[in-house]
Amino acid sequence: MERTFAARGDIYYTSSPSCSLSIEDGWLVVVDGKVEGAFRHLPERYSNLPVKDFSGKLVIPGLSDLHVHAGQYQFRGLWMDEELIQWLNTHTFPEEAKYRDEGYADRAYDIFVDDLLHSTTTRASIFATIHPAATLMLCRKLEKAGLPCLVGKVNMDRNSPDFLCEDTKESIDSTLEYIEEVESSFRLVRPVITPRFIPSCTDELSRALSSIANERGLPVQTHLSENLSELEWVKELCPESTSYADAYRRLGLWGGTRTVMAHCVYSLGHEEDMLEDANIWIAHCPDSNTNLSSGLMCARYYLDRGCRIGLGSDVAGGTTLSMLRAITDAVKVSKMYWRHVDQSMKPICFREAFHMASVISGSFFGRVGSFEEGCDADIVVLDDSSIPTTVEGLGVEERLERYAYLRPHAPVAHKAVQGRWLF
Ligand code: GUN
Ligand code: FE
Repeated sequence: MERTFAARGDIYYTSSPSCSLSIEDGWLVVVDGKVEGAFRHLPERYSNLPVKDFSGKLVIPGLSDLHVHAGQYQFRGLWMDEELIQWLNTHTFPEEAKYRDEGYADRAYDIFVDDLLHSTTTRASIFATIHPAATLMLCRKLEKAGLPCLVGKVNMDRNSPDFLCEDTKESIDSTLEYIEEVESSFRLVRPVITPRFIPSCTDELSRALSSIANERGLPVQTHLSENLSELEWVKELCPESTSYADAYRRLGLWGGTRTVMAHCVYSLGHEEDMLEDANIWIAHCPDSNTNLSSGLMCARYYLDRGCRIGLGSDVAGGTTLSMLRAITDAVKVSKMYWRHVDQSMKPICFREAFHMASVISGSFFGRVGSFEEGCDADIVVLDDSSIPTTVEGLGVEERLERYAYLRPHAPVAHKAVQGRWLF
């Protein structure tokens, strides 16, 4: 009975980009960790269930972060004055190299996991670093916290500094060992194949990782078309490819079981058709794209085409783990795209961005991100009672929008994953 209850509160979720459901003082029924439904009045057949009373609070599905670097969390909010490649070389690689030291990793990942636990995120697809021991430590902490994340040991065997570069064979062998260790040790946390991006991986390494992913049915995550200098570099490295996405396809790293391609800022006009593949998820990371001056992503195009476009924090290109911030940033970036680039691409609204962070990002992890029947009961409870205002009579969606803009970093009041309350 532990994962069976009726939760009372002000419920909000979406069923499509254009359709949200708000139930003020409603009931969310969960049986055995799965959502039975959200109701205006508690149906008689559920009247014996234990009640979780969140009256007056917002009850929303847990959000999913499709792209975050745990090994960059410690320098969040710092060093935002460079573009991608220089930022990687000057700040990111030296920081990631510190995770060779397990004492450092222990302290750093405690901070990351504690902040993630108290955020609106219930699932995340995470880049760790190249270090297997530190990455397993991160998995252990996430499992203990109750967060069912995908965690990747990063692979990089070229164009990387000596202190953060693997030998090709060592990279492949340690990835296999890592996968086996995660699959045998953890119930919630799963492995994801994580070639950093084309400039960091030899063809030999990329092809080996593709085989591992296909043979074991594992998901893949990497970066695509984020920055203009990166695009030029990939063109030089893969002269036979017609696009950056085509370079991944030739290496066997396209689609597979399922793949997250982070950014895709410069895919429109080159490779947008390939992003309609049913096994590709786009992680739109608006905060990072702004901080690193990467560019303006056209979320409207992909959303209207029915692509799986979710949201990512991309910490530490992004400053914060808050998916509420990713939602409002996605709305703002889409307005700049519409105003400055293409006035036929209407800005996305709050509801659409919320759908991206909940349902679309969530679909990478299974049936999560909504309160429709059969979804995993990932639930977040937000207390918006402390926002001082004279405005009255707001609807549930308006209160959530206001909370996203005003309290994106506030620790959430309660969180459940698969119907189990973490706090
Ligand atoms: N491309 C390759 N590595 C990275 C990274 O760590 N962050 C971002 N934003 N882009 C990358
Ligand atoms: Fe990234």
